[in-house]
Amino acid sequence: MLNGPNLNMLGKREPTIYGARTLQDISSELEKTAASLEVLLTFFQSNHEGVLVDKIQAALALYQGILINPGAYTHTSVAIRDAIAAVSLPTVEVHLSNVHQREAFRQHSYIAPVAIGQISGFGSDSYRLGLEGLVQHLRSK
Ligand code: DQA
Repeated sequence: MLNGPNLNMLGKREPTIYGARTLQDISSELEKTAASLEVLLTFFQSNHEGVLVDKIQAALALYQGILINPGAYTHTSVAIRDAIAAVSLPTVEVHLSNVHQREAFRQHSYIAPVAIGQISGFGSDSYRLGLEGLVQHLRSK
């Protein structure tokens, strides 16, 4: 589970849009979902594009899939999109807010075309729904 920039500020950051839960709360909840699905989950956040690219590349040797909330990099990062395409691991894009209901610049995702799907708008539940979708996809293979 990769989290992009400013998601470390959850709880304090625009709570009317992103909710009151901290990233630590979301991590703890997702860990419970992972345990109930009997999968191993690693939770990571960075404010730096290149660090996220490094993590995606490293995932190839370590994991079977990627769950990612790229934050603002969703709308700007060809590098993150290319890294996901390069490793070719099934990837699910998640967003707390419904990006399609917000400013025009948030309505384009560089990540969506290389993801198996996108979950957007369910608050912290987007993470759980994304993990369930990813695991179901992997198990159906
Ligand atoms: C976000 C939506 C992005 O547009 C924004 O830049 C974020 C959070 C979300 O989870 O709703 O940082 O990815």
